[in-house]
Amino acid sequence: MILFKPKLHIQHINAILKHQLPKSVDASRVTLAYFALSGLDILDKLDVIQENVEGYINWVYHLLCLQNDAAGFQNFATFNNIEYYCSGHIAATYSALNILLILGDDLSRVNKDSIIKSLKLLQLEDGSFMGSGSGSENDMRFVYCAASISYILDDWSGINVDKVVDFILKSVSYDGGIGQGPNLESHGGSTYCAIATLALTNKLHKLSSSQTHNLIAWLLRLQETGFKGRPNKENDTCYTFWVGATLKLLESYDLVNKKLLKNFVLSSQDFRVGGFSKWPSYEPDILHTYFSLAGLSLMKMEKLNEIVPSLNMTQRAVGHLMDLHKKWRGT
Ligand code: FPP
Repeated sequence: MILFKPKLHIQHINAILKHQLPKSVDASRVTLAYFALSGLDILDKLDVIQENVEGYINWVYHLLCLQNDAAGFQNFATFNNIEYYCSGHIAATYSALNILLILGDDLSRVNKDSIIKSLKLLQLEDGSFMGSGSGSENDMRFVYCAASISYILDDWSGINVDKVVDFILKSVSYDGGIGQGPNLESHGGSTYCAIATLALTNKLHKLSSSQTHNLIAWLLRLQETGFKGRPNKENDTCYTFWVGATLKLLESYDLVNKKLLKNFVLSSQDFRVGGFSKWPSYEPDILHTYFSLAGLSLMKMEKLNEIVPSLNMTQRAVGHLMDLHKKWRGT
């Protein structure tokens, strides 16, 4: 049995927050910060950054752009003093809102109406979403981000949900899995985005029973020891979450061989500097560290806080969100 080393992972994430993140690529910094802070939350160790909580919250708000038609958070603020470059991105908004909730912020400085109005402009005729207004790609990732943002802000007026459901159903492939869009290869990541969106919009029943059955079978076939994201690829720790969370949402997680899966994930720990890599004997990184922890949390690993599969945040952070919803609704 390989030992789980949470203390090493806490040190690893703390070192990333202090030394690596400030130097990391602008374009993904807020997402990497979300992985690090949510990872600490799963490890129940947010207290190690207690002194910096206000600083992180202010940094996130500094990334907020309120330009007409492009309101939202940006991944970086290097040029946001120049109006032309100040423009939200749907994935950054998703990550930023998650960080604020994890750190216990009340979202009072988030201009909800502007963000929802801008979201509406990002939905295309086929139901999919673009990442930003400036000619960005459109696919299932951004559909999920739009659903998660709407759920968090408790306002669905920026999404045509029927069109989203139509886009998801058209993206179900011949093999039972779901791609980034219609006629694209099934993938564990895009399948998570599609199913989590159906869960957040209460539309899981729109999948027929044969579609659900085929999807569960496709997902289960992705397990060797760990999960892979698509057939004939390597097992990879991040799919412990993407595929595992999808099976949880489809109420079929009991069918996973957890002994094999746990062994694969634990053997991908780095015992020198902490963290997890994508597979054993490879260097760790924050994405695989986070999704390994999130995947172990799905397995109810001891000492880990429980994660909510559809929102990719701990039950604790989602509890805070539910309190905010009650306050906003006056209930
Ligand atoms: C690897 O593709 C892709 C990933 C590790 C990310 C998968 C996750 C998503 C698409 C969901 C993203 C969600 C949000 C909210 C933005 P690859 O082709 O390098 O790896 P593979 O060989 O394992 O398929």
